[in-house]
Amino acid sequence: MKDIFKVAIDGPSGAGKSTIAKAVAKNLGIDYVDTGAMYRAVGYKASSRGVSPEDREAVKHLMEDTDIDFADGDIILDGEIINDKIRTPEISKAASLYSAIPEVREKLVELQKEMARKSDVVMDGRDIGTCVLPEADVKVYLTASSLVRARRRYRELTEKGIACDLKEIEQDILDRDHRDMHREHSPLVQAEDAVYLDSSDMTLDQVVDAIGRLIDQKIDGQAGGRP
Ligand code: DC
Repeated sequence: MKDIFKVAIDGPSGAGKSTIAKAVAKNLGIDYVDTGAMYRAVGYKASSRGVSPEDREAVKHLMEDTDIDFADGDIILDGEIINDKIRTPEISKAASLYSAIPEVREKLVELQKEMARKSDVVMDGRDIGTCVLPEADVKVYLTASSLVRARRRYRELTEKGIACDLKEIEQDILDRDHRDMHREHSPLVQAEDAVYLDSSDMTLDQVVDAIGRLIDQKIDGQAGGRP
């Protein structure tokens, strides 16, 4: 019997991964790791210091001097809680740009593997099933149409009182998809052994239930049941 249970949820921006992965982790009573928040933290730090993604040497130095961790659901960059600062459209774009840089990925992937070595986890991102946790017990590739993803984002932003344009949001999503899927290092692809889930016509609860069933099947199939 394995000691550590790992769930990998990958997919494009706005597919609802974070909300769903958090709920799945809560149901299982295990940790949730939002790897996108880690790339966002790098995007936030590098852009606020004026470090260009083209300046690979400067990015490398920045990474050597960067500490990212989670505590009680907060993301902590060099000792500072940065939850709200990394959820802007500018940081979404910066995260996508800096996440294409190998020195950034190397460090964050190592940190993520370390987090998963210590305890059971649900981890979401773009390369979890393919690169960070290739041995994960359950792998899901979660997606939705670009229009559905844009509508969800539009609703989130307007609920927060942030003015936005649906067409612009969809275009941003398509641009990010393209960058994330076509970058040279660890592009977003579905792992061969991942289950494909299109959430366009599903509610959050339905997606959480569907993943819960996959987990139950896996646990039932493992001799001795859940660790
Ligand atoms: O999931 P998110 O939107 O918070 O991710 C922000 C960016 O980080 C996204 O454009 C792609 C990148 N990312 C990545 O390259 N690998 C991951 N495991 C997670 C996110």
